[in-house]
Amino acid sequence: MPFESTKKKTDSHSHVFYRKHKRPKPTISHGEGVYLWDTDGKRYIDASGGAVVVNVGHGVREIADAVREQAAEVAYAHATMFTSHALEELAAQLAARLPLPDARLFFLSSGSEAIETAVKLARQIQIARDQPSRYKVIGRWGSYHGATFGAMAVMGKPSMRRTYEPMFLDMPHIPPVYCYRCPFGLTCSECGLRCADALEEEIRRQGAETVAAFLAEPVAGATLGAVVPPDEYWPRLLEICDRYGVLLIADEVMTGMGRTGRWFAVEQWDITPDIICLGKGVSGGYLPLSVTAARGDLVETLWEQLGDFNHGGTYSHQPVAAAAGLATIRYLEAHNLIERAREAGETLGRKLREAFGHHPHVGDIRGQGMMWALELVADRETKEPFPPSAKLAGRIFDHAFASGLIVYAMSGCADGVAGDHVMVAPPFVVEIWQINEIIGLLREAIDAAIAEVTAGPQ
Ligand SMILES: Cc1ncc(COP(=O)(O)O)c(C=O)c1O
Repeated sequence: MPFESTKKKTDSHSHVFYRKHKRPKPTISHGEGVYLWDTDGKRYIDASGGAVVVNVGHGVREIADAVREQAAEVAYAHATMFTSHALEELAAQLAARLPLPDARLFFLSSGSEAIETAVKLARQIQIARDQPSRYKVIGRWGSYHGATFGAMAVMGKPSMRRTYEPMFLDMPHIPPVYCYRCPFGLTCSECGLRCADALEEEIRRQGAETVAAFLAEPVAGATLGAVVPPDEYWPRLLEICDRYGVLLIADEVMTGMGRTGRWFAVEQWDITPDIICLGKGVSGGYLPLSVTAARGDLVETLWEQLGDFNHGGTYSHQPVAAAAGLATIRYLEAHNLIERAREAGETLGRKLREAFGHHPHVGDIRGQGMMWALELVADRETKEPFPPSAKLAGRIFDHAFASGLIVYAMSGCADGVAGDHVMVAPPFVVEIWQINEIIGLLREAIDAAIAEVTAGPQ
């Protein structure tokens, strides 16, 4: 009987299908501030908010209460039929902060969906502007935009695209802005922003009349690890996009909502993109929530010319997720957490430089606000990465996790396959003494992993 066979299952047999199937996973129990605890009572210091998600910290009562109250009032009403107070208020709060004139916001659940929505919106805006031949969205190598097909087509992480490439309509890509490993082999003083001008070349190569948009992360996230571009880079991109009638989409899924020490990363260059995508920190991890925000005049044009936005989503504009987002913004403001991300983030960066600046295998330390990364190299002089077979990033993660430290470790930054980096991006409430603890544990994890790798095959 099905019921009996279910009862016989033991803890070692899980019916859950995880992405990292072989990695043993403790059962999470609870969290508070920068800490998580598993059901065995082991404490973890969450120095990356998982995948750079947790900005306000774990266990915030006010957000849990807001979610509970909204769910008790009404949990679901379809977005083609109703709006809700929580959603309208969240949209108003975000619109007041977004660097988009008269912003209009479309709400979804994941960053990937926000990207899909931005891509579809760009296409429809171009059709509404009487430019129906424009459908391509240019992306950058070394980017991450999500796991769905549209996002993968624009995204520039080869290892995650390869399996599916025959299945989607690939999009053009330009080289990243990555000064530590300049794709053009230039140095900052001589480059003249060659990597930004590559956008103009690509638009011309494709034919501007076919290009709907350019999509990129303002500060590169998981794939390259907290790469901050030179100040002139984004204004130059915007100028190129404007010249060729190409929409500029800023993927702020990771950088938005205070992560870089300001509400949105693009603010530091004083530019106005056409579309901004948010996710992760917009609800601080309390519920799945993401946003595609666009300049009001563009959405008005779409409405005037096409009527409706041709898109969908059963869980779009969900009131409980909106309540979580609204409570997250209120908490960020009430506790001055954006300012804190900037100030404590500076300390985090300084301490990382002090601790790892002379480390023989740390080639680069980069980032801003509460978003930092260390790039590991086999040789500091030549910048040669460790071989991918060494699986250094995975080893660092494993050592850190075993010692109760959570970091976001990735491979592929150097050339899409080789190269390892570790992101340190704790919740904004992190205290200075906790930063010291993070750095101490990270040093031990890096040294232990490198000792394994340099000792040869295990
Ligand atoms: C910059 C960026 N865009 C999009 C995504 C996709 O978000 P999600 O995993 O919520 O679908 C991510 C996730 O890591 C991201 O970092």
